[in-house]
Amino acid sequence: MPVTAVVGGHWGDEGKGKVVDALSRSADMVIRYNGGNNAGHTVVNEYGTFRLHLVPGGIFNPEADCIIGPGTVVNPDALLKEIGELEAHGISTERLYISDRAHIVLPHHILIDVLEERARGPKPHGTTKQGIWPVYADKASRIGLRMGDLLEEEYLAEHLSWIVARKGAQLQGVYGYLPLEYEEVMAKCRQWREQLAPRIVDILPMVQRALREDRHILLEGHLGVMRDLDWGIYPYVTSSTTLPGGACAGAGIPPQAIIRVVGVVKAYTTAVGGGPLPTEISGELADLLRERGQEYGATTGRPRRCGWFDGVAARYAAQVAGFTDLAVMKLDVLDGMETVKICTAYRLGDRVLETVPHTAALERVQPVYEELPGWRGPCRGVREYEDLPPEAKAFLRRIEEVVGVPISLIGVGPGREEMIEISPFSPVGRRRK
Ligand code: GDP
Ligand code: IMO
Ligand code: MG
Repeated sequence: MPVTAVVGGHWGDEGKGKVVDALSRSADMVIRYNGGNNAGHTVVNEYGTFRLHLVPGGIFNPEADCIIGPGTVVNPDALLKEIGELEAHGISTERLYISDRAHIVLPHHILIDVLEERARGPKPHGTTKQGIWPVYADKASRIGLRMGDLLEEEYLAEHLSWIVARKGAQLQGVYGYLPLEYEEVMAKCRQWREQLAPRIVDILPMVQRALREDRHILLEGHLGVMRDLDWGIYPYVTSSTTLPGGACAGAGIPPQAIIRVVGVVKAYTTAVGGGPLPTEISGELADLLRERGQEYGATTGRPRRCGWFDGVAARYAAQVAGFTDLAVMKLDVLDGMETVKICTAYRLGDRVLETVPHTAALERVQPVYEELPGWRGPCRGVREYEDLPPEAKAFLRRIEEVVGVPISLIGVGPGREEMIEISPFSPVGRRRK
């Protein structure tokens, strides 16, 4: 069976949660490979509506192992809360495992994130304030604490006393804040060990066995390519690799095992947080998209910035991430629009760009649009591609052409069943009718 990666093709919140939930029904293992509880993946299925932050979307399939991979960063309190909420809805989390190599988001990471955003004054990066960059910075600085460390009392005590000393000095010196209390943090760690120890494992043997037995493994990305640390709109990015390459390291999967990369985009574009968004619109139309699409951050509740479909960013994402097929979600949100637009290029001065330039230039580009007729008949409720309004089909075909990747999934509503599946081997473009 293929290893399939589900990757955000824009600025995040494209509908990855829904796609992972749908594909998980036939998966044996689902691995979250990067990020932390900055992610908010919405799943609407027969069990209810859930906003998953760390738990992989495969949790609703009782047959699937769900792994929080070594490339992730885990806030244990947030994870315990999420587990509690799922269990309260009758969802078993028995098969949820955490890599012993995943880094722990400690309370001072969150504090530093908040203080640094505050220090930026009128120009914050707009992070989710979940301590994401400080924990990844500590990982790279090799002063991080990992989930497996919780299981080793002596090792934990030695490392934690160093961390508390160094980070306490930083808090005091840079931010004029109180130092850290060793006993307080240690008590937290002991409490986390008590509650999470059985789930903390070396995931490699599990993953290797699944690969050997040709099991269906799903890799769940967070955020999107435009917020990738290397290829995104730096510095308005997150601090991990959102690309499927990140899944190799972040989930322990050899690159050649990944044969399908589903790039998830919306039929329009949104972003939450700072940085350029070339197709951003404001006014009534933006408000309409936001209300219809319920575009409010799943983690922070912030209103999302909205714009037309950015085909340049999606094409760029498809190239760097190697999308084999595209999931276009929220087509139904555009129902009833007089016309719809696709950005096919950027204009920068007198140049026309076909790809995403570095951030300083991206901030100055103007979108070049193609305007297509909208559709009256609703896409919401449609189950077969053939039954979509002809204008909606033309819009999808144009997206395929602009991005250069066949569409395999079309979202026509938030629910699990509100999705049209097309074989990636007979993409929309070949269905000319
Ligand atoms: P993720 O972070 O990529 O998983 O996306 P989010 O869950 O943050 O945001 C996507 C939002 O769109 C959620 O509220 C979903 O329930 C909703 N959604 C997903 N697919 C569709 C769709 O096809 N139509 C509509 N109307 N809503 C959708
Ligand atoms: P999912 O997985 C949308 C944004 C923040 C900010 C930038 C960096 O649900 O798509 P961070 O807290 O990571 O340091 O913030 O990235 N951001 C997200 N935007 N969806 C997310 O996750 C996000 N996670 C972070 O708003 O601009
Ligand atoms: Mg989200």
